[in-house]
Amino acid sequence: MSKEEQHIKQESGLECFKAELTEKDFGVFSKFIYSEYGIKMPPVKRIMLQGRLLRRIRELKMNSYSEYKDYFFSKEGQEKELLHFLNVVTTNKTDFFRESVHFIFLNENVLPNYIENKNNGVFKVWSAGCSSGEEPYTISIVLNDFALNRPNFKFSILGTDISTQMLERAAKGVYQASRVESIPYELKRRYFLKSKDTSNPTVRVSPQLQKNLSLNYLNLMDSVYGVNDQFDVIFCRNVLIYFDRNTQEKVINKLCYHLKKGGHFFIGHSESLSGMNVPLKHIKPTIFEKL
Ligand SMILES: C[S@@+](CC[C@H](N)C(=O)[O-])C[C@H]1O[C@@H](n2cnc3c(N)ncnc32)[C@H](O)[C@@H]1O
Repeated sequence: MSKEEQHIKQESGLECFKAELTEKDFGVFSKFIYSEYGIKMPPVKRIMLQGRLLRRIRELKMNSYSEYKDYFFSKEGQEKELLHFLNVVTTNKTDFFRESVHFIFLNENVLPNYIENKNNGVFKVWSAGCSSGEEPYTISIVLNDFALNRPNFKFSILGTDISTQMLERAAKGVYQASRVESIPYELKRRYFLKSKDTSNPTVRVSPQLQKNLSLNYLNLMDSVYGVNDQFDVIFCRNVLIYFDRNTQEKVINKLCYHLKKGGHFFIGHSESLSGMNVPLKHIKPTIFEKL
């Protein structure tokens, strides 16, 4: 039994829960997750999924994984359970200023060029796979700071994800104080409000950081994205890693459809676009420009 599963069992009083997610049932879930959301779920992940579904099975007062599977694939289950299931299967690790080279590039190259070219519209950024909001809020910090001495600079940020739980957290904008420890003091002072509760120190993002940010559910596997905008920058970091190469290529092409010519595209440091047929020019490792 995995540590995660042990922990959930103890926490939920399910120590006596003996059922297991059989290889066959795991295969059914794995096929579904891949075809609908592009997420690879190889057999080594069976115990992980078993552990993660346990809490949900308890909440639904069910007795086995097969009962859960039958419910999940029923008409009612597909309507009511899908979002809960997505919250369980997605990996949402993220951080403020994660892979900071992108934010430095945004601040030192992309934004000055934008101003130099006398663009006077709205500078638009999309954080695709935004998880609990640390990425779009970091973008917001950089853009708000850039706007401090440039009152005419207008911007908007879109954050999208398939995990509604993460989107709710993002919308709330409240984080454990330890998560912002490494952010420079001046930025913390400007953009975060400290809670008064010393027993559970948290911070809340300032209204200024939320002002130009919208958060929406969007599945990157959808054939077309319900997004009308053309973006100056797209962050799609540490999301592609869960997709196979063919899916990655399709997703990037769909995202690029919404990226302005000359706009920038950022991917995560363990991701690569080499050999892919996508309209992007390599600028620096993990940084691309739309052709
Ligand atoms: C590891 S997090 C990365 C968060 C952030 N981009 C970062 O780099 O810190 C990956 C996010 O991608 C989301 N995701 C996975 N599959 C997706 C899909 N098909 N469509 C949209 N978002 C997806 C997950 O819910 C998760 O929140």
